[in-house]
Amino acid sequence: MKRFFFIAALLPLGVLGQRINFDEGWKFHLGHAADAHRDFNYGIGNILAKTGDAANTCIKMEFDDRDWADVRLPHDWAVGLPFAHVKNGDVDAHGYRAVGALFPENSIGWYRKSFVIDRADSGKRFVLQFDGVFRDSKVWVNNCYMGGHFSGYSGSSYDITDFLHYGKKNVVVVRVDASQYEGWFYEGAGIYRHSWLDVVEPTHFALNGGVFVHTRDGQVTIETKVESGVGVAGTGMVSAAIVDRAGAIVARGEGSVGGVGLVLRVDKPVLWSLDNPYLYRAVVLLRTGGRVVDSVNVRFGIRTVTIDKDKGLFLNGVPVKIHGVCCHQDHAGVGSALPDYLQYYRIGLLKEMGVNAYRSSHNAPTPELLDACDSLGMLVLDETRLLNSGEEYGADFERQILRDRNHPSVFMWSIGNEEWMIQTSTTGKLVAQHQVERQKLLDATRTCTYAANVGNVWHGVNEVIPVRGFNYNLGGLDGYRRDHPDQPIMGTEVASTVSTRGIYVKDTVNAYVPDYDSVAPPWASTAEYWWKIAADREWFMGGFAWTGFDYRGEPTPFQWPDINSHFGIMDMCGFPKTVYYYYQSWWTDKDVLHIAPNWNPGGGKEAGKPVAVWVNSNADNVELFLNGHSLGRKDMPRNGHLEWMVNYAPGKLEAVGYKKGRKIAAFVETTGEPYRIAVKASSGGGVVVYNCSVVDKQGREVPDASNLLHFSVSGGAKIIGVGNGDPSSHESDQDPQRHLFGGKCQVIVEGKGPVVFSVNGEGLLGVQEKISL
Ligand code: GAL
Repeated sequence: MKRFFFIAALLPLGVLGQRINFDEGWKFHLGHAADAHRDFNYGIGNILAKTGDAANTCIKMEFDDRDWADVRLPHDWAVGLPFAHVKNGDVDAHGYRAVGALFPENSIGWYRKSFVIDRADSGKRFVLQFDGVFRDSKVWVNNCYMGGHFSGYSGSSYDITDFLHYGKKNVVVVRVDASQYEGWFYEGAGIYRHSWLDVVEPTHFALNGGVFVHTRDGQVTIETKVESGVGVAGTGMVSAAIVDRAGAIVARGEGSVGGVGLVLRVDKPVLWSLDNPYLYRAVVLLRTGGRVVDSVNVRFGIRTVTIDKDKGLFLNGVPVKIHGVCCHQDHAGVGSALPDYLQYYRIGLLKEMGVNAYRSSHNAPTPELLDACDSLGMLVLDETRLLNSGEEYGADFERQILRDRNHPSVFMWSIGNEEWMIQTSTTGKLVAQHQVERQKLLDATRTCTYAANVGNVWHGVNEVIPVRGFNYNLGGLDGYRRDHPDQPIMGTEVASTVSTRGIYVKDTVNAYVPDYDSVAPPWASTAEYWWKIAADREWFMGGFAWTGFDYRGEPTPFQWPDINSHFGIMDMCGFPKTVYYYYQSWWTDKDVLHIAPNWNPGGGKEAGKPVAVWVNSNADNVELFLNGHSLGRKDMPRNGHLEWMVNYAPGKLEAVGYKKGRKIAAFVETTGEPYRIAVKASSGGGVVVYNCSVVDKQGREVPDASNLLHFSVSGGAKIIGVGNGDPSSHESDQDPQRHLFGGKCQVIVEGKGPVVFSVNGEGLLGVQEKISL
């Protein structure tokens, strides 16, 4: 009790800086990038001549938006657009959604929201924060221009205090222009991350990076920066308490703002690690004139990251080989607008596979992704969008560092990826040098890398980058190490196996690649190729496989009708492909024994015809049996897999493995026809992910089923996305129906309270699932 009393005494009510979620109650309408009339007169109305003159545009407070759509953030309007089969490399790379400069009618989005601020709150400062708007956004409050933001990945904020009307209606309007692409992958469109209203006293901790908590062994350092009014440096007294998970205060300290910060010592700290991602909270108060004026609560972990050029990465003194994946940020059904739970869901799936590190390729991640990595124990290579030290991108990188540096999961920064126009030039070197300096200045506790696809090349960025990042080109690895033995090296991007889940023969019509670890583009490699190299070299820190999940766009090695990538170790929904089991075998201590393909006829399997059977396992040896007859026992090569050519006969294909003398077994078998729908739910934070399949009369999952399923939800719940992992599916991501692909599909539901989820399909026994959200 005393403890809680003590904490309450630390946090007087009514003085806390408040962060109000601003996601609800937005209205949305498409504008037009090429026709000002259809863009609500934007460009015609002279809105720049006088502050507060919104002319006859939809920026005007009184504009009638009642017929605009109601939306809740995060919102990605691109995911609901039709596909466009246009012969254009960038449209292809973005997954053929009809957004971008070729589609002016779909590429401007307008958002409006009304809100009221209590008169009692006048005197405080109000800062509107957008975590991510794709892209080129402009913001007005009460007819007045607040500013704009160029990049779709770095977030933006606006102090709107001077323009507010207290006790009356205020209107914020955002124009989003997604005509220009920033990447070469699906990027979405709209306010696709959260928005917030920060409410603070005039003297407050700087909103981005005002409290920096960093640790070394049991020592916690809290650096602070205070602003008074708008951007003016302020002073004050800072006091801090470190609170453990049970709510006990384990350290306290007091000092003044700035300087080297408060240094607190936690006795016998529980360290943040991959297996036990223990988080503490720092409750930090700011006092001026004896009055508490601000308070922040920072979640942090006590951990030490070190890098040794000969022995790689260490977390708390323990060596960690990087079992990493690169990921883009979109997911089946929802595009780039992921509800928070999906971040936890995806990181959970990666942990299950044995992944210990995530590269946010090629942009700043959403903060909730980092929260998930902090909570679940996943290291993050936090990458910025572009290698560019100019004012705009330089400021974006700084904003990203200030925003993310309290996250224990972030172990390193990345200043860019494959900038082939400058990476081997003097310009590249100078730009990199500038970015490295920026990083050190704002976060001396970490270092940085750059993802270079240049093999054994030194000139340019590699001359100045603290950690050499190899993208592919591993043929140059040993030579580079020999020539530059003092620079730590890691695989910033490796592998790039292409495969389609559940399809085992190449299909150029439907654009499918066999689901083995057998095909990679010319610049890349299979999983087995890179991992063997990495595992055998102590000085190679490990690497990040391209990619954890399929993503929209980059349909390599095909084009239309293919609309998403094949690079994922899991598909767009997070359903594992065969290569998943390769990594799981060598990246975890779990018993892994997996047979590919499935054993239903069709898809290249005909009685008497040879079928390539791959077994992934970490058993010492494996014997394969077809309908009880042995097909031979083989020793498992370390970091390898086993193959048999088997003459297909329906029935049961069984693998029996011995791991240190212990027997493990797995099988695939020929199933009957689809009979009943089966659903598996995972939920959190008001969101449920339903994974649907069908089983035969004996309850066996039918792995090649393709039935069309229909979904409905009761009450206040809503289906926010559906998917099935088929890279060539042109079905809607949002209609409440989907075909199974490779026997599976996924439905994402958001809601509150009791929800009944029903699934039906022609000729199938349906299912109803009840859940309370
Ligand atoms: C890399 C690039 C990635 C992706 C990948 C596909 O060169 O960095 O963004 O395009 O190739 O293999």
